[in-house]
Amino acid sequence: MASHTALPVARTIADLRLTVSDWRRQGFTVGFVPTMGALHDGHLALVQEAGLRADRVVASVFVNPTQFAAHEDLDAYPRQETRDAELLAGAGCALMYAPSVEEMYPADATTTVSVGAPAEGLEGVARPEMFGGVALVVAKLLNQVRPDVAVFGEKDYQQLMVVRRLAIDLDIPTEIVGMPTVRDGHGLALSSRNAYLTGEEQTIARRLNGVLAEAAARTMTGRAVGDVEREAQEALLNAGFSHVDYVAVRKSENLRPFEGGIVDGPARVLAAAWLGRTRLIDNMAAG
Ligand code: PAF
Repeated sequence: MASHTALPVARTIADLRLTVSDWRRQGFTVGFVPTMGALHDGHLALVQEAGLRADRVVASVFVNPTQFAAHEDLDAYPRQETRDAELLAGAGCALMYAPSVEEMYPADATTTVSVGAPAEGLEGVARPEMFGGVALVVAKLLNQVRPDVAVFGEKDYQQLMVVRRLAIDLDIPTEIVGMPTVRDGHGLALSSRNAYLTGEEQTIARRLNGVLAEAAARTMTGRAVGDVEREAQEALLNAGFSHVDYVAVRKSENLRPFEGGIVDGPARVLAAAWLGRTRLIDNMAAG
């Protein structure tokens, strides 16, 4: 098994399983954090949380091709494995799992995973390929690592809903934990894609969380969901976003719309908006 600095790296399922079975023999519980690398403090918070919930933590670093559409940024997606390994070691991770595309997707593989309702709407409309790819790779990763607990960020709130449904429906005995979004000093949700923003775009990007917070506050005054969504969309365009894919106020538990168009229970305000060629998503609790 290779290693970066002090952190062992497994490149194959067999190597991963050797280490995990060895931990199991010693009686350790196992936590897992899946990532696509280009790590930031948001990922490291997930690793630290996994470390509080389990004796040993595995983090995967795998830029998953099946969740990118042909026109998306797969080749340009930032890859910085040596730095990622150092950061993971510092956050208390015990093993980095960094398989090749061929290891994850052998040429003769044909199985797909379709989660249904939680993957429809919002990101599922804007990026129709994505949740099939996420569901497939997360199902495979959970089977490969077989962790007691896996930690995901609420930044990708719909992804968290998709993973929760997948784990229940496929009887995967891993506890799925969601962690609040980590933000910079201006409230901008940390994301590997923030690295693409120019200085001017960064200033505009910092308005996103403020607009969502205002929208969340408005839903709680009883304002109609449709009006809140429209006003937030206008506010984003006025702030300088080039295009808004959606602003949506949905039920927190399942992301379904509120019947009657008035928030009458726990809600989530979610948005996806573009700054030039960079697409940002964020969400906030309301009510
Ligand atoms: O959230 C991500 O980084 C990815 O979608 C995940 C969960 C690692 C699957 O590739």
